[in-house]
Amino acid sequence: MSILKSFIVFEGLDGAGTTTQIKNLARYYEFNKREYFITNEPTGNPIGRLVREVLQKKVITTPEALALLYAADRSDHLYNPSYGITRILDEGKIVMSDRYFYSSIAYQSVECSKSLVRTINDFPSPEFLIFIDTPVEDCMKRIEKRGEEKELFDRAEFLTKVRENYLEELKRLPDGVNLLVVDGRMSIEDTEAEIRRYLSSFSL
Ligand code: TMP
Repeated sequence: MSILKSFIVFEGLDGAGTTTQIKNLARYYEFNKREYFITNEPTGNPIGRLVREVLQKKVITTPEALALLYAADRSDHLYNPSYGITRILDEGKIVMSDRYFYSSIAYQSVECSKSLVRTINDFPSPEFLIFIDTPVEDCMKRIEKRGEEKELFDRAEFLTKVRENYLEELKRLPDGVNLLVVDGRMSIEDTEAEIRRYLSSFSL
């Protein structure tokens, strides 16, 4: 199992706060004059845009086709010859991604076979995985508060299964992946401080 050094992945349920935390970490690297690149999945690239259309229920497809689309978007995200993550890591930058293949294992396995999802997500692991563990009820409240149209997976029963899949997956991480589980009920500032403390203990 290969590990991508200096690759930091943030994971959590919808509404867990990964986007806020990744932005805050980027600000910290900016302040410390570290070279970094911040990204997310689904991406804003062509395959990722198609995924967004499925999430917004503008395009209807099957769970298996959606799982394949997420994996295709990820393959492009990692290996695209002009903007792929592996290229950016080779340039010596820290890369932070809001979601990676753990999202596929947690979300797509609710409706597709886990073995299919694993097979199509045979991607290298990140050196750091930060899981923001927020209870489903808190996530649902935050999603409601946004006041936006609900996306495909924004349902409490669905997210409950997603959380179980995440927790199961976190128990079987390969050696070399450094995992930090953060209690998502903490304040934004305390969460941020805990993440920084953890990463700086690895000189990141
Ligand atoms: P976002 O809310 O972080 O932008 O992610 C969009 C949605 O896509 C969210 O409900 C999580 C879901 N998702 C998957 O189901 N599988 C995946 O592989 C990824 C990256 C996201």
